[in-house]
Amino acid sequence: MTFKQAVLGVAVVFMSSLAQAGVTKADWGKTADGTPVQIYTLSNENLTVLITTFGARVVSIEAPDRAGKKADVVLGYDSLKEYEADKSTYFGSIVGRYGNRIAKGAFTIDGKTYHVPLNNNGNALHGGPAGFSSKVWVGKEIPDGVEMTLVSPDGDMGFPGTLTARVRYTVEGKSLKINYIATTTKATVVNLTNHSYFNLAGDGKGTILDHVLMMPADFYTPVDATQIPTGELAPVKGTPFDFLKPTAIGARINDTNEQLKIGGGYDHNWALNGAGDGLHVAAKVYEASSGRTLTVTTTQPGVQFYSGNFLDGSKTGKFGVTYQKYAGFCLETQHFPDAPNQPKFASTLLKPGETLHSETVFTFGVQK
Ligand code: BGC
Repeated sequence: MTFKQAVLGVAVVFMSSLAQAGVTKADWGKTADGTPVQIYTLSNENLTVLITTFGARVVSIEAPDRAGKKADVVLGYDSLKEYEADKSTYFGSIVGRYGNRIAKGAFTIDGKTYHVPLNNNGNALHGGPAGFSSKVWVGKEIPDGVEMTLVSPDGDMGFPGTLTARVRYTVEGKSLKINYIATTTKATVVNLTNHSYFNLAGDGKGTILDHVLMMPADFYTPVDATQIPTGELAPVKGTPFDFLKPTAIGARINDTNEQLKIGGGYDHNWALNGAGDGLHVAAKVYEASSGRTLTVTTTQPGVQFYSGNFLDGSKTGKFGVTYQKYAGFCLETQHFPDAPNQPKFASTLLKPGETLHSETVFTFGVQK
């Protein structure tokens, strides 16, 4: 190699670390009703992320381990057909119009009560049976990523007002950023989040019970037998819900504890200590065999930590492995579940003329 080549090499490396993520688009078949679906690839020197317009879902995230070897760290399927057939896991999707639960699917705005069809133990989960995760969004390339748009009509799944939701996925450095924007034509309730299941050892590589989790939250919101918050903010101190210090997910998951019994493991909302201060940490996760770390920061007040309790071996993923209980975990940044019926929880009401903005950032690193 000549000096000139070497210098040019350095210049290229230097430039590529600042370079924008490459974005490409491909057709990904059609839904059962004939709607064409696309898949976008966002990639830079650190991450390669696949996102489909079906449910605005994250299909794959390739991130390096401590030796620089890349693996896909989210659960999901090879084909659109499999995503369409799965009505229960919400793999990688944007859930809405109201992510998480609304008690009995009912809420009242300005004296009028609205009903969302029930799909989970007498409650509405993730926006009802045909929520945002099952809709085909419209994709548009933007710098470093893709913007997904969904226009949810007035009355969609019982919700009032035409809601225009935009979700921007961008790959920047070691991070996948998600920006949420929404406007409405009538007062409505909104809670948008991403429902990716992570396994930092790699998709299909056993359970996440050895992953070490930290969540800066002194309180969580306990639930009733149907997983609706009781309204109480309970201290995590002295309970298996205390992740203030990094602790293995599996360390206490089988403890005798009424709340763990209800969810079949962790499936609860933590009230983040940093809420209200712009981007703050929701969680940090470390997986020892790969060295991979995941840091989640968000502008949202809460995070649903779900340990994949309802995965039961009936679904087979991208790498031909059946997903057993605890095969992946979700960190769904959010407003609190059932906030429309819980006066003590921060409001999820969105009115005409207002714009909802929120941001969540997933950063992938390694620990030596
Ligand atoms: C819920 C779980 C539910 C899962 C669906 C989570 O957000 O809290 O109870 O089973 O989504 O896969």
